[in-house]
Amino acid sequence: MSDSQAIQQEKIICTCTGTTQAKIEQVIAKGADNLDKIESATGANTGCKSCDVLILEILSKAN
Ligand code: FES
Repeated sequence: MSDSQAIQQEKIICTCTGTTQAKIEQVIAKGADNLDKIESATGANTGCKSCDVLILEILSKAN
């Protein structure tokens, strides 16, 4: 993994819950294939709900 990839993965996607991109990618890899599943697995998008577009973007890149 390059340094820039590592930095990217540490990026906080959901500031309300402090969920990182790496955490979201992890649960997608474990089979969370929609927003609901990612929410319940990480807690992301359970606050202000403004990060849903970012989560969906990660999901679309992972599939
Ligand atoms: S930034 Fe994710 S719920 Fe607020």
